Formats: sequence, structure tokens, C-alpha cells
Amino acid sequence: MSEKPFRIVVLISGSGSNLQAILDELHVPHGTGAECVLVVSSHAEAAGLQRAEAVGVATQVVPMADHPNREARDDTLAQVVAEADPDLVVLAGFMSILTANFLGRFPDRVINLHPSLLPSFPGVDAIGQALQWGVKITGVTVHFAEVEVDAGPPVLQEAVPVRYGDDQASLTARIREIEHRLLPAAIRLFADGVVTRDPGDRRQVSIGSEGELG
Ligand code: GAR
Repeated sequence: MSEKPFRIVVLISGSGSNLQAILDELHVPHGTGAECVLVVSSHAEAAGLQRAEAVGVATQVVPMADHPNREARDDTLAQVVAEADPDLVVLAGFMSILTANFLGRFPDRVINLHPSLLPSFPGVDAIGQALQWGVKITGVTVHFAEVEVDAGPPVLQEAVPVRYGDDQASLTARIREIEHRLLPAAIRLFADGVVTRDPGDRRQVSIGSEGELG
């Protein structure tokens, strides 16, 4: 493990239960070599901000309403995030579309958490979409964030069964449980430096020695 901590910036919009999982599993006192250096919220009232403040992590709020358009918001957001000098930016329940003004500043360094097995059920209310479809299996995806929403290549995915009689609350609870394990696991892989995008086919992501098998 290198001397310099692996610096994570987490973007949130709401309750921040996944931020909590990151703070519980990876943050400084756990000796993982990773450090959450900043949490940025799109909303001042996001409960996740208190989770960060409770463990002394710096917070900022960058509301859409303070900007004339999405690009201007993303310029501000990029500036705020860049000042924290992140190795990885984690979208953990950040519910606002990001443009190239933000994503272009952190190439291959932004990951997103999504509550379905992408490419099924992108966009809002992925869990409700899965229930409406009546699928038997949904899941969780951690993927590279790109300008096209929920379309960047996956880093980790895990299936979650949908049980007969599941409703939004029961399926959300089962998905959250997986998210709280999968997102910190993905971040750890980045901190360990073992995640690689194939330069010849950037949709192919290898983990560790996987890239050497072919
Ligand atoms: C999580 O389930 C995450 O997958 C989802 O928002 C929730 C945030 O929960 N994100 C998306 O749907 C993005 N398209 P949290 O605030 O308790 O971490």
C-alpha cells in the first residue's frame, strides 16, 4: 500500500446510506489507505451531509438553482471537486445528470452506483421499473460514468433476486444491502490500482490479473 492516501470525493443528493458504507468500510481509521476528503451534495437538506460532518469530512453544496444551466453548474462542481484533488469521484445516489463540463475534467475517474443490472432499467426509479416488468432478477451495477446516462461500462455487477410479493420497500432494502458491500469493494479495487480499461475497446474493464488471461 502506498504512503499517500487514495483520495475519494463522494457526490450525493439524499440519504447517503452508501456514503455511510464508504465511511464505515474505507475511511481513514480503517487503515485501508483510502480517505474520503470531500462530500458534495446537490441539495443543502441532504441527510448524507450530516453523515460526513459526523466524522469530520468536509462538505460542500452545489445546487442547480444557483446556476443558469447544467453546464454552468458542472463548471462550479468540477472546480469544487478538483480543489480536493481526488483520485476517484464516486456518484453515490447523486440524482442529477452530469455533462462533459464535469466528466471531461476527470476522465476514467468517475464511477456511478445504479440499482439495477444495467443495461436493464437505466434512469430514475430503477427498482420500480424492475417491479413493473416482473423480472425475477435485478441487481446492482457500479460503472464508469460517461455523458450518456447509466451507459458507461460496468466495473462490478451483482444480481439480486426479486421475490414474489416484493414491493418497493422490500426490494429496495435487499438492493441497498448489496450496494453497501459492492460500492466499497469497487472503490477498494481502484485504490489498489487493479481496474483497467482496455485501450483498444474501452467498454472492456479488467480487474487485476483478468486483463492478462487472454
Ligand atoms: C442508491 O440506491 C443508488 O443506487 C441510487 O440512489 C440510491 C441512493 O441511496 N442511484 C440511482 O438511482 C442513480 N441512477 P443513498 O442516498 O441511501 O446512498
